[in-house]
Amino acid sequence: MVSRSMTPYGAIRDAAIGIVGDRLTFVGPLKSLPAGPEDCAQTVIRLGGAWVTPGLVDCHTHLVFAGNRAGEWDARMRGRSYEEIAFAGGGILSTVRATRAASEDVLAESAAERASAMARQGVTTIEVKSGYGLDLENEMKMLRAAARVGERAHVRVLRTFLGAHALPPEYKDDRAAYIDLVCQQMIPTIAREKLADAVDGFCETIAFTPTETERVLAAASAHGLRVKLHAEQLSDSGGAILAAKYAALSADHLEYLSDAGVAAMARTGTVAVLLPAAFYFLRETRKPPVEALRRACVPIAIATDCNPGTSPVASPLIALNLACTLFEMTPEEALAGMTRNAAHALGLGSEIGTLEAGKSADLAIWNISDPAELAYWIGADLLRDRIISGRSDKHGRTP
Ligand code: NIG
Ligand code: FE
Repeated sequence: MVSRSMTPYGAIRDAAIGIVGDRLTFVGPLKSLPAGPEDCAQTVIRLGGAWVTPGLVDCHTHLVFAGNRAGEWDARMRGRSYEEIAFAGGGILSTVRATRAASEDVLAESAAERASAMARQGVTTIEVKSGYGLDLENEMKMLRAAARVGERAHVRVLRTFLGAHALPPEYKDDRAAYIDLVCQQMIPTIAREKLADAVDGFCETIAFTPTETERVLAAASAHGLRVKLHAEQLSDSGGAILAAKYAALSADHLEYLSDAGVAAMARTGTVAVLLPAAFYFLRETRKPPVEALRRACVPIAIATDCNPGTSPVASPLIALNLACTLFEMTPEEALAGMTRNAAHALGLGSEIGTLEAGKSADLAIWNISDPAELAYWIGADLLRDRIISGRSDKHGRTP
């Protein structure tokens, strides 16, 4: 069985999948193959009715970082807020201190362990953001470490430059100078050296104003990089409207998204990336406007937001469960959110995210009897095999 649109989950029963090299060449009912499978292919792998989905796409992570923030979490459990900790120089900045002190090797190694955990849950593509370096050298170190994660963990990695994640301490009295650095030095260098596929920012009271954020989005666009934005996570700053103005691939978080923000995203086809694990871990009570997004036909993606501050979660399947239990999404919507819509959030909608001839052969093969199980079990071991660019974890390259 494979998944496609129309029937629930787009399921095709008694299906066959053809792969040549790294591409899907056939996806459809077994009976519509021109001849028997053995006559069509050099190697036939019989899955005995197993469910096959597109490889999962985790389209929003901060996978590269050093240290952890368990101590701050302990303080939050005693009543301190995320914002209070951030304003006191902790939060993102404590991870910046640890990440600056770590070598590229150490960063690549620890991120690869987290990516491997995700791969064991069917992930084939992971987006990884920088944003804990906050100077050119350390941001580049993070992006180079992110590239190494792909080889180590056998996943496709997309990299996003997030220099505008927090104001580094050395610029605390000159915000404009830091934005100048991001726009005039970091973005041009990162674009020239092809160290990132997109640029992100954090538009929020504890990070950057809409005016500051706009400078970053404009500089990214001027250098030919698509943009994404952390928007409306803790308050309504108008980030989603700003993101849409720059034809952003996605606006992410969105708990405080306004009706005007929904409409702006609908106009530009900007994907709403919801991060239910961060909502859960911050004990947020305001939910993103899922029904309004549905009504406006804004595609909804789901991601882990794996990071040490707001979502120490390296489990995409738990994120699917939380999307259903906390945001009232259906298991089918959640799965589409971590496949088809997540691919669009990365600008890769024509390459991955669905099972269609011509796309990259990225599949997850599951030990389940109902696809709702992917969002249902918490902590179960459901994956049977993964194929990425035509290469199976268990069988090696498919012919
Ligand atoms: O997606 N919102 C900003 N960035 C991260 C948190 C990063 C951190 O706290 O270290 C997020 O929640
Ligand atoms: Fe994030």
